[in-house]
Amino acid sequence: MKAAIIRGYGKEVEIADIAKPDLLEDSVLIEVHSASINPIDNIIRAGYMKDYIPISFPFTMGYDVSGVVVEVGSKVSHFKKGDEVYSRPTGNLAGTIAEYTVVNEKEIALKPANITHKEAASIPLVGLTAWQALVTRGKLQKGQKVLIHAGSGGVGTLAIQMAKQLGAYVASTTSTTNVDLVKQLGADEVVDYKKQNFEDVISDYDLVIDMMGGEILEQSFKVLKKGGTLISIKGQDTKELAKEYDVQFDSFFMWPSGEMLTQLAQFISDGVLKPVIDRNYTIDKTQEAYDYLQTGRVKGKVVIAVK
Ligand SMILES: NC(=O)c1ccc[n+]([C@@H]2O[C@H](COP(=O)([O-])OP(=O)(O)OC[C@H]3O[C@@H](n4cnc5c(N)ncnc54)[C@H](OP(=O)(O)O)[C@@H]3O)[C@@H](O)[C@H]2O)c1
Repeated sequence: MKAAIIRGYGKEVEIADIAKPDLLEDSVLIEVHSASINPIDNIIRAGYMKDYIPISFPFTMGYDVSGVVVEVGSKVSHFKKGDEVYSRPTGNLAGTIAEYTVVNEKEIALKPANITHKEAASIPLVGLTAWQALVTRGKLQKGQKVLIHAGSGGVGTLAIQMAKQLGAYVASTTSTTNVDLVKQLGADEVVDYKKQNFEDVISDYDLVIDMMGGEILEQSFKVLKKGGTLISIKGQDTKELAKEYDVQFDSFFMWPSGEMLTQLAQFISDGVLKPVIDRNYTIDKTQEAYDYLQTGRVKGKVVIAVK
C-alpha cells in the first residue's frame, strides 16, 4: 500500500510502497480517505520525542484519520465492515497517512454524517486536546472566563467553539490577519498580539489554555484570578510560578478516546462545532504539507487526501 513514511530522524517524508498493517483481534482495518497533520508529527520526525515516544523505521506518519472500516478483528464488538469512522489512534500500531491503518476499537467513533472525510480527519487530535483541556482538566463552568491562546490554530479554533458551547466568556489571542476568523468562531474578546500584550488587557480570568509556552505561559499567570487554573499543552512545568500566583497549574499530553469522539460527533451533527480547514494536500505532497505546518501560520488544520 501507499504510505507517507520516514526512514530516520530528521529525514524528509517519502511516499513508499509498504505492507498493509496486520489486523489485531481488538482492532479494525480502516481504508483511509483522509488524514490530517499536527505539530507533534514534525517534533517526532525531528527526533525530539525519542525518549518519550520511541518509534521504529520505516515509520508511517500521521495521527488523525477518517475512513471506512474494511475488516474487523475477532473481538471487536462495536464496529462493522462499512462503518464510516474517525479516530486519533495511539500510533504504536500504524500511522494514518497511508491507504490503510489499524486502530483499536476503543479509539474510534462513527464519523459525523454531516461532514466529509476531509473535515472529519481535521478533528480528532485537536478536538480531543481542546475538550480534555477545557473540560476534563480545566473543569470549565458556565459563566466562567477563559483565555484561549492561539485561537486561530488547530486546537484553538475548536477550543473557542467548545468553550462558547459550554457557556463560558471567551477571550483569545491571535495576529491581525486572523482577528476576524477568531471573532467568527465566537470569541467575545480578541487580543491582537501584534498590537497589544494580552496581560495588559485581560484580568481576573478563571482559566487559561496555553499552547505556546515560554514567555506567553509565564505572563499568563498574571491574568488569572486567585484560585484560577492554567493548563498548558506545551509540556513545560511552572509549578513554582503557580505557587507564587496562588493558582492551579496543570500540563498534560492528550489521550485517545472513542467515547469522547462520539461526544464531539454529536456537537458536529448538531452544528455547534465546525471544522476549520486551511489547506488540503494530496498524499504525494505530504512533505510540502509538513513544511507549511512548520511555518506556524496555519489557520485551523492541514488535511491530507489519501483516497
Ligand atoms: N499536549 C498535547 O497533548 C498537545 C496536543 C495538541 C497540540 N499540542 C501543542 O500545542 C501547540 C498548538 O497546536 P496547534 O495544532 O493548535 O498548532 P498550530 O495549528 O500550528 O498553531 C498555529 C497558530 O498559532 C498561532 N500563533 C502563533 N504564535 C502565536 C502567538 N504568539 N500568540 C497567539 N497565537 C499564535 C498562529 O496564529 P498567527 O498566524 O495569527 O500568529 C496560528 O494560527 C503546538 O505546540 C502543539 O505541539 C499539544
